Amino acid sequence: MVLASAPGKLILFGEHAVVFGEPALSVAISLRTRLETALSEKTTVNGRELKRGDFPYLDAGIRRSGFGEPLSINIDSHIPEASGMGSSAAVTVALLASLQALQGSFDKESIARIGFEVELGVQGRASPIDTTTATQGGGILLLKDRGEDFLWRIEKGGSVWNLHACHLPDMKLVVGSTGIEAATGPLVARVRALANRQEKARAAIGRIGEITLEGLQALRRADLSLVGDLMRENHALLNALGVGHPMLDAFVAAALPHSYGAKLTGAGGGGSMIALTDNAQRVVDAIQNRGGRAFVVATEPRGVLVGDEA
Ligand code: MEV
Repeated sequence: MVLASAPGKLILFGEHAVVFGEPALSVAISLRTRLETALSEKTTVNGRELKRGDFPYLDAGIRRSGFGEPLSINIDSHIPEASGMGSSAAVTVALLASLQALQGSFDKESIARIGFEVELGVQGRASPIDTTTATQGGGILLLKDRGEDFLWRIEKGGSVWNLHACHLPDMKLVVGSTGIEAATGPLVARVRALANRQEKARAAIGRIGEITLEGLQALRRADLSLVGDLMRENHALLNALGVGHPMLDAFVAAALPHSYGAKLTGAGGGGSMIALTDNAQRVVDAIQNRGGRAFVVATEPRGVLVGDEA
C-alpha cells in the first residue's frame, strides 16, 4: 500500500489566457488530496468498482500511465471539487505518484507531464498550470520563454509553456467559494469559441498575459496596491471572456472595501474568488454576509508527497 498527497492551487493571474500560451502565476495551497492505493483484485475507488466516466481523472490517469494491475484507491480530499482550487489536478498528480511508487520510482517531471496529458484528455483543452503546481508546490510561473528557476517545458497544439518555480512573498489570501460546481472543460471551450469569433476577446487574452507579468513585478516590489488594481482588471477581463458569475461579482464587490484587490480564480462560471488583504477577518465576514463560504488559505511550499510525509 502507498500513500500520496498533492496540494490544491490558486491562480493569482492568467487563468484561461494561459491555455493560449500566455503567462500565468499560481500558488499551491495548504489544502491537500490524499490517496491510499494498493494492488487489489479489481479496481475500486472508495470501495466501489471504478466504472468508465465515474472518476474521469483517475480513469484517464490509470490508462495514461500504462499501469495494468487492478487497484484499490481510497481518496480523502480537503479541496472542494470543481471550485477553481485544483482538485482534479491534485487527485491526478497524487494518483500518478502512487502508481510510480508502486513501481519503485518517483519523478516529478514525468508526473507533471503525464498529469497535463490527463487533464488535456478529460477537459479537451488545458494548460499545465494546475498539474505542475500540484506536483511542484510553491509559486509557479508559466512563461513563453525560458527564465530563472526553470523547471520544465511543455508543448502542445502550437502552445509552448516554460514552467518555473517562483518565490512569492507571504500573502494573506481569502478564498470566497460560491459552492457552484463548474466543470473546467466547457468553460475553456467557451473562451476558445469567443476568441475564434472576436478580436476583442483575443485582445483581452493578450492583456491578461501582460497583467500577469506586471502583477509579478508588483508582488516582488511589494506594491500591493498595484497588485490589487491588476487583480480587478484581470477579473473584469475574465467577465468579458464569459467565465464570470453574478455571485463572484457580488463577493468581489463585498471584499474590495477591505482588500487590495479581488478576482475570480480558476475556471470561473461559479467556483471561487480570491482577495488579497490585510484584513482577512473583515473580508471573510463580508463574503459570508453575501451567502458565500469564505476562509483564509496558507500557501504551501510542498508539492506531491509520497509515503509517511504524505
Ligand atoms: C483552471 O484552473 C485554469 C484554466 O486556465 C484551465 C487550464 O489552464 O487548464 C481555466
